[in-house]
Amino acid sequence: MTEERELRLKNDIIKKLKVYNQNHIIEHINRLNEKEKDVFLNNLTYLDIDLVFKLYSNFKNQNKEKGDFYITPAHVITLPKTEDELAFRDKAKRAGEKTIRENKVAVLIVAGGQGTRLGFEGPKGTFKISPVKGKSFFQLFSEQLIALSKKYSARIPLIIMTSEENDYDTRNFFYENDYFGLEKDRILFFKQGMLPSLTLSGDLILKGKYELATNPDGHGGSLKAIHESGILEKLISLGYSELFYCQIDNPLVKILDPVFLGYHILTGSEVSTKVVRRRNIEEKVGVYINLNGKDAIIEYSDMDKAYMEAVDEEGKIVYWAGNTAIHAFSLNFIKRLNDHGFALPYHRAKKKLEIEIMNSINETDVLKFETFVFDAIPFAKKACAVEVLREEEFSPVKNKEGVDSPETAQKDMILMFKKWLESAGARVNPDIKIEISPIYALDCQDFVKRFKGIGVIIDKDIYFGD
Ligand code: UTP
Repeated sequence: MTEERELRLKNDIIKKLKVYNQNHIIEHINRLNEKEKDVFLNNLTYLDIDLVFKLYSNFKNQNKEKGDFYITPAHVITLPKTEDELAFRDKAKRAGEKTIRENKVAVLIVAGGQGTRLGFEGPKGTFKISPVKGKSFFQLFSEQLIALSKKYSARIPLIIMTSEENDYDTRNFFYENDYFGLEKDRILFFKQGMLPSLTLSGDLILKGKYELATNPDGHGGSLKAIHESGILEKLISLGYSELFYCQIDNPLVKILDPVFLGYHILTGSEVSTKVVRRRNIEEKVGVYINLNGKDAIIEYSDMDKAYMEAVDEEGKIVYWAGNTAIHAFSLNFIKRLNDHGFALPYHRAKKKLEIEIMNSINETDVLKFETFVFDAIPFAKKACAVEVLREEEFSPVKNKEGVDSPETAQKDMILMFKKWLESAGARVNPDIKIEISPIYALDCQDFVKRFKGIGVIIDKDIYFGD
């Protein structure tokens, strides 16, 4: 940036702060010396102050009436039962495998979140999750990439979204671990945007001397930042057409599942989503539905209770399709979402923030604005939902303990690996830990081919590596 432009930007910031009545920030700036002022203002040049005040005012003046809306269960490709469905599944698998082999799919893992509920210091991806070896999420995903690249002789880019808060630690973690055996230039990192957090009455918040309190702009920010980073256009120019999307905190994700990719391609969808049956009407999971004639996902907290709890005459949940946050996107669709400014709506949420007031640390509620990746679904010309088994694909780590915690995820991993061993003919004693590295086998079918288990009894903790 030229000096002149930099100066203009900084002057603009001061003007904006005045327009939005942020006198406490201006007073703070006036107390800083020239060098400190420079650092402070420089940090602000990366933040969209106009956007955050516009969002605050929109939410404040928002009419609470939801207007006319019409919700019905969405069409979902359910687990195949009939011959026709099984044949379509096989066809999908072949189509998905072809797409991978032809170097048309890249993988995006979003890992920019704050992991507040888990309460772990450091990026969530560095959390040790595997049951026997204590491998991190990042290692498990990298090993899947290695195994997939080998299986399909494919060049699969691994793209990781970080945020300002965890970018350095994430990159450093890969560097220190030698990229877990992946070629270094195969991994692309990009940072998502940050937005200033606001007090409940709509003011900017100081975080120490040099910066404002901020938050990452939500997982939906991935669809904006992948474009702004230039990675989207680079992938398209290299001939990639699809993106497999998942979150960092689900150790059961089957990266690049060819059946799922195949359904996405054969149905001509611009975005596809894996769904699981909701456990019960209380489960805190987004719901895949049809809203005013378009597929959509509604966050559990935004869906009316009557819909969340609706059951049919047999007692089955009507809106049963729970979001797993595993998607496939067409790259051109993401490009279109960005063509005339980023298209996704912002949501407002309260979060707890520790701030220093009069030399003591206080926890207080603040507002954050973010976008959700699934809000892209209604923009798609065609969307598709695919049912998968929860026990094989979905066990997110959200909380420190209880539901959706490291303990439940490890239990689910062990249960799944136990099934693989039993499918290979082995007998497995209960209460032991099992871990199968993706390098050894990517799925049950691969495992059964490799491990001859008939007559084998497994009675102590076991690890299958490469
Ligand atoms: P969650 O919404 O569960 O948030 O993110 P979180 O950061 O993991 O945890 P809490 O809510 O602070 O406790 C689901 C996935 O989306 C990513 C997270 O890294 C996780 O993989 N995410 C979320 C982002 O990449 N950026 C965001 O701004 C928010």
